Amino acid sequence: MKITVVGAGAVGATCADNIARKELCDTLVLLDIKEGVAEGKAMDMMQTATLLGFDTNIIGSTNDYSKTAGTDVAVITSGIPRKPGMTREELIGINAGIVKSVTENLLKHSPDVIIVVISNPMDTMTYLALKSSGLPKSRIIGMGGILDSSRFKYFLSTAMGVTATDLQAVVVGGHGDTTMIPLARLATYQGTSVANYLDADTLKKVVADTMVGGATLTGLLGTSAWYAPGAAGAALVESIVRDEQKLFTCCVYLEGEYGQSDICIGVPVVIGRNGVEKIIDYKLNEEEQAAFNKSAEAVRSMNSALDNL
Ligand code: LAC
Repeated sequence: MKITVVGAGAVGATCADNIARKELCDTLVLLDIKEGVAEGKAMDMMQTATLLGFDTNIIGSTNDYSKTAGTDVAVITSGIPRKPGMTREELIGINAGIVKSVTENLLKHSPDVIIVVISNPMDTMTYLALKSSGLPKSRIIGMGGILDSSRFKYFLSTAMGVTATDLQAVVVGGHGDTTMIPLARLATYQGTSVANYLDADTLKKVVADTMVGGATLTGLLGTSAWYAPGAAGAALVESIVRDEQKLFTCCVYLEGEYGQSDICIGVPVVIGRNGVEKIIDYKLNEEEQAAFNKSAEAVRSMNSALDNL
């Protein structure tokens, strides 16, 4: 099994680190355009192998895609990250060109690759990667909802004073501060509704905190977060390479599901060795469906910016 992570910045390197620790492949390629950075980070990580006990071989590459040949799963993290006060959407002009060329380069050497997109604005970058590559929709997966759902569980756990691993909670819709939809109605603490434990105002605040979860971290860190985004990317890759058939919210191409078509947006998806195995219908109520439609409208209007580039 061979995995490539494109972009050796904080998110890409953290994702690669998680992939190596989990031994998801024999060969892991870390690629970046900045001279020496991917080689340096790959070597640094390889020097943790005997300490952490993994056998994955990590290879760094400065923009040499021939080293990625025969990749089974690739993660694209390239692009400029958010700065404080910036929305994910403001990155579109620069990151669109980068994601398009990275996708082309990957496919030249690995025609069967499954691609996970993390670059922002993620929903639009996923759509762009799909449309520009012509790949089947099962092989392009945007990473957003899995991260946002993890943040939702974190905020719920702190408000409830319980361990996050006992919680089930899902965020659907776009991966944007105003487009994501934490599904509070469906959130449970070991099968019982979280509404049994939190009053309506607290639950509202948890939802609001989740929606700006990335922006809060950008404010604190001065750049985009990386631990949770990197771990979320690796969890997605794990479900593919180990054929775990796990259910995550992922940004995938819809053809009528959830009432939407010709768009990539976050919905619950079973992820396995073929990439997208199945989209699950959560049977949203009227209010949730209206929010989903509004989110789709916002994502669609961002996608239309691709036409002017
Ligand atoms: C975040 C970025 C990765 O949400 O979109 O932190």
